[in-house]
Amino acid sequence: MSRFPYPAYPNGWFRVAYSEELAPGDVKPVHYFGRELVVFRGEDGEARVFDAFCPHLGAHLGHGGKVEGDGIRCPFHAWRFDGEGSCVEVPYAKRVPPKARVAAWPVCERNGIVLVHHHAEGKPPSYEIPVLEECSDAAWSKPENRFWKVRSRWLDMNENAVDGIHFKYIHGVPSFPTAEIHVDGPVFRVDNTMRFSTPKGEIDSTLTTIDHGPGFQIVRITGAIDTLMLNTATPIDEDDTDVSFSYSVRHEGDEQKKRVGAARIRDLEHQFEQDLPIWENKAYHEKPMLCAEDGDFGAYRRWMRQFFSESW
Ligand code: FES
Ligand SMILES: [Fe+2]
Repeated sequence: MSRFPYPAYPNGWFRVAYSEELAPGDVKPVHYFGRELVVFRGEDGEARVFDAFCPHLGAHLGHGGKVEGDGIRCPFHAWRFDGEGSCVEVPYAKRVPPKARVAAWPVCERNGIVLVHHHAEGKPPSYEIPVLEECSDAAWSKPENRFWKVRSRWLDMNENAVDGIHFKYIHGVPSFPTAEIHVDGPVFRVDNTMRFSTPKGEIDSTLTTIDHGPGFQIVRITGAIDTLMLNTATPIDEDDTDVSFSYSVRHEGDEQKKRVGAARIRDLEHQFEQDLPIWENKAYHEKPMLCAEDGDFGAYRRWMRQFFSESW
C-alpha cells in the first residue's frame, strides 16, 4: 500500500543526468518512473533518452549500445536506431521491419542539466525550464553536485518550501521566516525573509524557492554570500526518489568569499540531511491538523495537482 494518495509519477521535466556526466558518445542505463531507460549523447552533441529495450529481442540499449551519428546501435544483433528512435538499419536483413522503433522521450538541456519530459498520457511539454544567468557567469562558482536516494516523493518533501515553522525546529534558524507565495501556472515561488545564525552572529537573509513543475527547483539565498541551488528530483519508482542539489556561490574570485561559500554549502547539505529522517518516515495527511501560524500548505497542494493526469 502506497504511503501517498497521489500517483508516483507526476507530469513534467526531470533530471536524468548532469551535462558533464554525458560526453558525446556516452551511453548510460538509468531507471526512472519505474522503467528502464537509456540516456546517450549523439555525435551531433544532442542528449537523448529512449526506452531501454530493443524491440527486436529485448536487449537493453544502455548496456553495450553504441552511439552512431545521432542514434544508437543495439549490442545484441546490431539493429541501428536514429535520433528519433526509428530503426534505420538491420545489417543482416533485406528489409527493416517498418514498425521497428523505440520510444524517444522529449529532452531539454539547460543550466548544465539534461532533463526528460514525463507525461502519463504522452502529452507534449506544457512549460519550459528557464535559462539562468548565474550558470554562465564567471563570478559564480562551478556547481557542486550532491546526490541522495530518498525513500519519499519530492512533492511531499518539497512542502518544506511553505513550512516556515520547521526552519526553527529542524534547522535551528533563530526566528520564523515571513513568507510570500506567488503562484503562476507551473511556477510556485516563495519569498522568505529570515534571520540566519552565523559564526559572526545573526544576519538578515532572503531565501527564495521557485519550483518550475514537480522536478526542478531554483533556490536563491542572500545574506553572508549569494547562493544558488538547483534542486532536482526524479522518481525512481513508487517508493524512492533520486534527489540532487547543485550548489553555487557568487565568490567573484575572492578567496575569503570562497571560504564563506564552502561553509555555506556544507551547511546547506547538512540542512538537507536534517530533513531526511522526517521525510523518509512521515505519513502524508490529506487533512493535516493545522493552526493559523502554519504555512499555506493548501496553496502548495492546489498547485501540485496540475501535474497529475489522474485526480485523487
Ligand atoms: S535485441 Fe536489439 S538487435 Fe536484437
Ligand atoms: Fe527543511
